[in-house]
Amino acid sequence: TREPVVLGIETSCDETGVGIVRGRTLLANVIASSMDEHARYGGVVPEVAARAHLEAMNPTIEAALAEAGIGLDAVDAIAVTSGPGLAGALMVGVGAAKALAVATGRPLYAVNHLVGHVGADVLADEPLEYPTIALLVSGGHTSLLVVRDLVGDVELLGETIDDAAGEAFDKVARILGLPYPGGPQIDRVAAGGDPKAIHFPRGLMQPKDDAKHRYDFSFSGLKTAVARWVERAEDAGEEVPVADVAASFREAVVDVLLTKAFRASADFGIPRLLLGGGVVANARVREEAARRAGLAGVSLRIPPLSLCTDNGAMIAALGAQLIMAGHRPSELGFGADSTLPV
Ligand code: KG4
Ligand code: ZN
Repeated sequence: TREPVVLGIETSCDETGVGIVRGRTLLANVIASSMDEHARYGGVVPEVAARAHLEAMNPTIEAALAEAGIGLDAVDAIAVTSGPGLAGALMVGVGAAKALAVATGRPLYAVNHLVGHVGADVLADEPLEYPTIALLVSGGHTSLLVVRDLVGDVELLGETIDDAAGEAFDKVARILGLPYPGGPQIDRVAAGGDPKAIHFPRGLMQPKDDAKHRYDFSFSGLKTAVARWVERAEDAGEEVPVADVAASFREAVVDVLLTKAFRASADFGIPRLLLGGGVVANARVREEAARRAGLAGVSLRIPPLSLCTDNGAMIAALGAQLIMAGHRPSELGFGADSTLPV
């Protein structure tokens, strides 16, 4: 059977992503981001994101078709993120996908954004082995999953109970007077600091949290601890050692993320870990993940960064997997669901 050509649309946050795949082969991956507009506010503003998606949608679809070198008539199916994410932003993608599906008479597949992050990996050279543990960390989510079957058996083990890890990076950057988005800034500044200079709290890592929150995350206490530490230094008239604060904060986040991910791997006896989401760009996350994977005998997968951050290709790839596994298309009555479970 011929491998399906699938066009995927992603609008769950601030990236308008349109990707095209043929089976497991990437043909195009175009992203328009409204990040610059949000930078003025220090974070993603839902109304701004939704309007930007509307403006970017048609040009991004055109650009993806041009990049793939095909016309719309060569597209066999459409896939779209229906959740979770920002409701207004999701609605733009879902509306566009339905319009495309109706206009072309092609089937439409509504997919889950988090599963899409895992699906990005099918575009890598070697197929992913299942089961695998997946840790997805971005400005919008911090989720730990067991993936037994990409298109049928994905279980959410835990997630953040307050801020997402990327959000914590962005907020702490702001406290330190660094621009948005803060993750890359903290990463850069932290390179010149001492990660052991300050011991910041590791959320939900206490034994008392274990029964209920063994695989969950919490970063708001950490953010508050950094804010207090900086305030105290300023009140005392001390110069804030920005590099040390950044390095110590980054170390705390990385420690929590990886402790929980490798714990899940050990608990479930699954020696495979897949990372996804924008925070995976973090130098310390990558370095420490590789170190711990080596120690634990876990095989570590990190897709190229362009497939780790939000994008349409991962949605298209998941759509293609659904088709190849014989799944039926979605009924057109579905809507955007900001809290869609995996
Ligand atoms: O996946 P992504 O591009 O978009 C979503 O949030 O869905 O992730 C963006 C997030 C932002 O919070 C950004 O600060 C963070 O990823 N980030 C980083 C780094 N690069 C981006 N966080 C830590 N270290 C980095 N190098
Ligand atoms: Zn995402």
